[in-house]
Amino acid sequence: AATHKIAVLSGDGIGPEITAATLPVLTEAGRAEGEEFVFTEAPIGGAAIDATGDPYPASTEEVCKASDAVLLACIGGYKWDSLPNAQRPEKGLLRLRSSLNAFANLRPAVVLPQLADASTLKREVVEGTDILIVRELVGGIYFGEPRGFKEENGEKVGFNTMVYRESEIERIARVAFDAAMKRGKKLCSVEKSNVLEVSQLWKEVVTRVAADYPEVELSHMYIDNAAMQLIRNPKAFDTIVTGNIFGDILSDEASMLTGSLGMLPSASISEPGKPGIYEPVHGSAPDIAGQDKANPLAMVLSAAMMCRFGLNLAKVADRLEAAVTAALDAGYRTGDIMQPGCKQVGCQEMGKVVLQFIEQQAAAK
Ligand code: NAD
Ligand code: IPM
Ligand code: MN
Repeated sequence: AATHKIAVLSGDGIGPEITAATLPVLTEAGRAEGEEFVFTEAPIGGAAIDATGDPYPASTEEVCKASDAVLLACIGGYKWDSLPNAQRPEKGLLRLRSSLNAFANLRPAVVLPQLADASTLKREVVEGTDILIVRELVGGIYFGEPRGFKEENGEKVGFNTMVYRESEIERIARVAFDAAMKRGKKLCSVEKSNVLEVSQLWKEVVTRVAADYPEVELSHMYIDNAAMQLIRNPKAFDTIVTGNIFGDILSDEASMLTGSLGMLPSASISEPGKPGIYEPVHGSAPDIAGQDKANPLAMVLSAAMMCRFGLNLAKVADRLEAAVTAALDAGYRTGDIMQPGCKQVGCQEMGKVVLQFIEQQAAAK
């Protein structure tokens, strides 16, 4: 038995609601395995701007760096949308990722059999889909310099720079090949090398790294085609590796295969010894915030990824995932995944239901 220090960043919008639903579930799953979690909450995003004027205050950075893992809900909201870039909630999240060097963002999109009819796509298209998107998270156009606004010939110009260094491409490629080796041994590298130099380098480096992984079948696809193929035949994909912005877009797209963005967890892994960040793929959902409508399962599943990949607690992760499956099997659904014949519940109640299944399963063993 051990104690694990978790930095909890509940953020904005639905963040506090899904966090409140997730923490008791995590605590109880840990208890069942004799593991204890110590939560230290810290502000990030809009909540941190309101409290301190900074979306990623130094005090929050200290809490994160002193923890074994960071569990994040989501940030952002209309209230802060017209602030300059440096003071936006999103900047807080980007600085968090950067400060922990969380370069490898793993975003699994798995179609659970219970939810095969919850997708807007046909059951026969999505059923059995099991994709892992490996997204580079601390480089590319999100961080490239120069960037900004300028005045040219009497009009305003906005500009960004998409840049990748060989070393950045190589390290994310290795994470993706390693992940593919543990899965279906198929890796699809997604870029835009028919147009962009940065993508030509990406393709070259990924191809070079492939020599170290002879068992993995590597393919290359342009981002526009990949966006189409993902909807046409998602089962053709196993592991995908791509840059920061393409991975952002493809992962939201992939969420609709699974039924809802409210189901997708993620893990952002750093170099060994540094804490990873575990967070749902979705944002703060301002359209449903404060209404007890949010699906907390993406965050519960993110906590499971934290246990599995960040804390080496596979048994706790198994319990969390089994309880989510049990809640779905029993017919409980939040609005975003509601289907005929199911019981619609709010965020809080979904949390309680999952907690009950954790307790039941612990009692049964
Ligand atoms: P969003 O992901 O917040 O919401 C998109 C749609 O999905 C909305 O209709 C929302 O209601 C729904 N949705 C999302 N999560 C859900 C859940 N758990 N349960 C049920 N429905 C859910 O994206 P957006 O509306 O484009 O952005 C809102 C804010 O969130 C913006 O400020 C954006 O910058 C921020 N954002 C933050 C993160 C993050 O914290 N990692 C990710 C994406 C967007
Ligand atoms: C995500 C979000 C973030 C991103 C934003 C809020 C900075 O969309 O985590 O997918 O683009 O990475
Ligand atoms: Mn996104």
